[in-house]
Amino acid sequence: MIPNEIIDQILDKTDIVEIISGYVPMKRAGQNFKGRCPFHEEKTPSFIVSPAKQIYHCFGCSAGGNVISFLMKHERMEFLDALTMLADKANIALPRQSQADRGKSSFADKLYGVNNMACDLYRENLTKEDGKTAYRYFIQRGITESTIKHFRLGYAADSWQGVINHCKSKNIDLETLQKAGLVLQREDKKNWYDRFRNRIIFPIFDLRNRVLGFGARTMGTDLPKYMNSPETHIYTKGKHLYGLNFSKEYIRKQDYVIIVEGYFDLILPFQNDIRNIVATLGTALTPAQVQGIKRFTKNAIMIYDSDKAGEAATLRGLDLLIAEEMNVRIALLPKGRDPDSFVRKEARPGFMKLLKESKDLFDYKLGVLTAKFQKNSPQGKARIVGEMLPTLAKIKNAVLKAGYLKKMSEELSIDEKAVRAELEKVKPEFRASLAPYSISLETVKEHKKSPASLAEITLLAIALDDAEYLEKIKEELGGENFKDESIAAIFKKITELRKEGKKVNPSHLICHLKGAGTSEIISEAVSMNQIIRDKEKALNDCVKRIKGDSQKLTLHNLQSEIKKAENAFDTNKINRLIAEYSELIKEFKKNGTSVKG
Ligand code: GTP
Ligand code: MN
Repeated sequence: MIPNEIIDQILDKTDIVEIISGYVPMKRAGQNFKGRCPFHEEKTPSFIVSPAKQIYHCFGCSAGGNVISFLMKHERMEFLDALTMLADKANIALPRQSQADRGKSSFADKLYGVNNMACDLYRENLTKEDGKTAYRYFIQRGITESTIKHFRLGYAADSWQGVINHCKSKNIDLETLQKAGLVLQREDKKNWYDRFRNRIIFPIFDLRNRVLGFGARTMGTDLPKYMNSPETHIYTKGKHLYGLNFSKEYIRKQDYVIIVEGYFDLILPFQNDIRNIVATLGTALTPAQVQGIKRFTKNAIMIYDSDKAGEAATLRGLDLLIAEEMNVRIALLPKGRDPDSFVRKEARPGFMKLLKESKDLFDYKLGVLTAKFQKNSPQGKARIVGEMLPTLAKIKNAVLKAGYLKKMSEELSIDEKAVRAELEKVKPEFRASLAPYSISLETVKEHKKSPASLAEITLLAIALDDAEYLEKIKEELGGENFKDESIAAIFKKITELRKEGKKVNPSHLICHLKGAGTSEIISEAVSMNQIIRDKEKALNDCVKRIKGDSQKLTLHNLQSEIKKAENAFDTNKINRLIAEYSELIKEFKKNGTSVKG
């Protein structure tokens, strides 16, 4: 648990406008910034960010909160990750974690430490006599000394005990080495041996440059060509992208990422000054990897090998990127080339030209399909449409989707209506990674407020202003409470703060209160506050509304009790309840609240 004071401090040192404008184009509008909401489709902007209040809010879909809620929702970051990122940026040290977390992280730290040491050892090996072949291998493949250093490339010696002996001298136990995936135990359970032997080594890093694991390539023709670290406590396959630690700032600056398959396919372009690049390491692109990229850009160019396997991988990756709402293009390599060999021959200008000539996802996929099926026969058309539609169905932007449908019907000379009819049949796949989106759409729908909760939010908007209004609201409401539990909790918290003579800062409040929907409610109240003209009048109207609603509810409940009593022929009870009912009506009338309707 991080103390609230530190969270507040981090929020105070962060500018929400600066962070959000990294993801959403915005223009100044009076006191606020305005842009198109990233959480729902819209043509005219209803997404506002208030620099004064450090809050964002969408009038269209009710999304809202402070900078941390934004990062959590937009980047799908965990609270602590978002906080850590902002703390780093603000140069604020976060306190040590709790005991339990500390135990966990110390094991992770141990593995990072062991990996780092092995990484140094492998690097060191390259400079030794028996590492000469490996060093020459790198040089032969066009890699320079400074690139070797930059990527911390290395060599695992041709020995069963290289890492083991090295670590013995450093007092590291074999169990830890095994947990790091560096050594294996023989079946006799007595002897241990190095996993990587006589191979060149590529350390794999996380975004904070910690060594997660290794890839190891043979220098000969033996199989497997590559060996990788197994999954460990710190390394999950398909979660990380090779090179992202080196490329993230370039990706952010250039606002697009180049996605390739292999280590060499990343390193050689990087060395040729093409640095906004990541590698998937031969496995299919995963949603987690796309999330990792999306923090830096929404635009991608894929360059996979030009063989059949590369084509299949491209098509799979394409669908995934589209489903994750990335804009994708595909660069095509000449037959038999990969990005590594291509950039070595053509250098940077050739590579840039290749990127420039990259194809739109639609043209690419249609090209692949028309090479496979007869574009002119009805059966061929049906096959092509059948394969295109699942991809087009994943496009979230309706305008873009409509454009592609039109284009497809033109290219294949089919009636657009027929294409649309087929599209209707394509069931959108429900994928776990998209769940947060569908949930947010649901909450958008739920959030269409009843007048009662609108009145409650309005009162909250007024209460956030100053202590006097808060007192007045409480006075006017009498003992009446808020129906919405979150709003009630927020009021309680504000009252506490005021009692202690503290200021109420809505952006801080969001992190102090953990209730569901709290951040949306507070941001809505803050935005509403800016547009309420006559606070006194609004206050009175809303109190009246809330009281009236509550009285209506009381009367309604009494009525059903009377009905029950009637059914039971309980005359005494009936009379008592009716008396109570008319007393209430009188009282409500006297207080001037309407009970009709
Ligand atoms: P070079 O042949 O050295 O140029 O390697 P490459 O990176 O071009 O290899 P390739 O295109 O064959 O494969 C792309 C990526 O898939 C590699 O960088 C590896 O990460 C991965 N890969 C390839 N072969 C194997 C293998 O046999 N085992 C494993 N685990 N991964 C492999
Ligand atoms: Mn290659």
